[in-house]
Amino acid sequence: MKVLIVGSGGREHAIAWSVAKNPKVDKIYCAPGNAGISQYAECVPIGAMEFEKLADFAQENSVDLTVIGMDDPLVGGVVDVFEARGLRVFGPRKNAAILEGSKAFSKDLMKKYGIPTAAYENFDDAEKALEYLRTQAKFPIVLKADGLALGKGVLICNSLEEAEEGVKEIMEDKKFGSAGNTMVIEEFMTGREVSVLSFVDGKTIRTMTSAQDHKRAMDGDRGLNTGGMGTFSPSPFYTKEVDEFCQKYIYQPTVDAMAAEGRPFVGIIFFGLMLTADGPKVLEYNARFGDPEAQVVLPRMKTDIVEVMEACIDGRLDELSLEFEDNAAVCVVLASEGYPVKYDKGIPMYGFENFDGKDGYYCFHAGTKFQDGQIVTNGGRVVGITAKGKDLKEARKNAYEATDWIQFANKYMRHDIGKAIDEA
Ligand code: AMP
Ligand code: GLY
Repeated sequence: MKVLIVGSGGREHAIAWSVAKNPKVDKIYCAPGNAGISQYAECVPIGAMEFEKLADFAQENSVDLTVIGMDDPLVGGVVDVFEARGLRVFGPRKNAAILEGSKAFSKDLMKKYGIPTAAYENFDDAEKALEYLRTQAKFPIVLKADGLALGKGVLICNSLEEAEEGVKEIMEDKKFGSAGNTMVIEEFMTGREVSVLSFVDGKTIRTMTSAQDHKRAMDGDRGLNTGGMGTFSPSPFYTKEVDEFCQKYIYQPTVDAMAAEGRPFVGIIFFGLMLTADGPKVLEYNARFGDPEAQVVLPRMKTDIVEVMEACIDGRLDELSLEFEDNAAVCVVLASEGYPVKYDKGIPMYGFENFDGKDGYYCFHAGTKFQDGQIVTNGGRVVGITAKGKDLKEARKNAYEATDWIQFANKYMRHDIGKAIDEA
């Protein structure tokens, strides 16, 4: 079997590693991939948004299954392009990827189907948004650009002045481009955040083990929002009771709502949840694996990923159940100093051999490439160091130990990934 993976981050490295475990798979391609992914896959220089070229490549190379890792191509309709050519592809069509592609859509969907989420209003006019804000008594308040904005289109505003400035940034200055043509203004929620990823076949949903991300750049959740600086799995705050509630009132209802709207969802739904005092509520939906959630969830998954993806495509996910190891994993992202704003690239990296033969330790590459035969940094998030352990404490100790194994001059990381487990 030949598999093509589309994307180039740590998530796609973790997907490639999982896919490579299937004995039926004898060739993996990744477009465009990175230095680490090339251990398992032949990297091909086609961009994730070059849909026709990707489909040409899949056709010419008799690829049996294409897995789309990233959000942009999904929201842009890459799956539709593949399906139109009769190619097998894992991911939601454009009309379902809108669950991530438009926050206004997803909020309206939740409201219509009674799925718990923060109270909100949508606006496509800056004046109306400002008028509404002036009637609001409760701050902080949350502003969200409707479209994709690299996880950065969310502003938490502590006062009316900040919120007015935020409307200007999103809707007038177009800080997030056309993603800000429409905006959601929503109630600020407090509580623990949990990420729950799931496989969906249009009707049936099977959730994976829980995880928690750390989105801010600096220790103590200070600094700017990033793509994610580290994760742990499972979340000790995601109890059996919380799971039962979410299965009943959030997960299946979301899948049913999409089907009822004529937008059957096939692929990964990532539920970003807030465990509030009033119960779990949806913060956001994503239409793909999380990054770096995949780097802690997939190493713990016992079920074969290729079999699950095929069951989703064929609409027979109800025949499968997912199994996870009874342990824990922690991922610490090694970033370039200065991320997410300004940082140097092309810095030589050392120490990858330290991971050879070390069971339960992984170095998932995100922003790396080969330059004159040497691996160098090529992005803000450079690698994710994942380690497993019998429990979260041990996994955390192991992961931080392994962060020393990789060296590069401008290495930066958070030192408190998974610290919350001490409070559990
Ligand atoms: P999102 O991209 O929607 O997940 O938002 C990014 C981050 O902003 C989330 O992970 C939360 O930490 C925070 N956030 C988003 N919406 C809210 C909300 N309604 N209340 C509090 N925090 C929020
Ligand atoms: N780690 C959050 C995300 O992938 O959106």
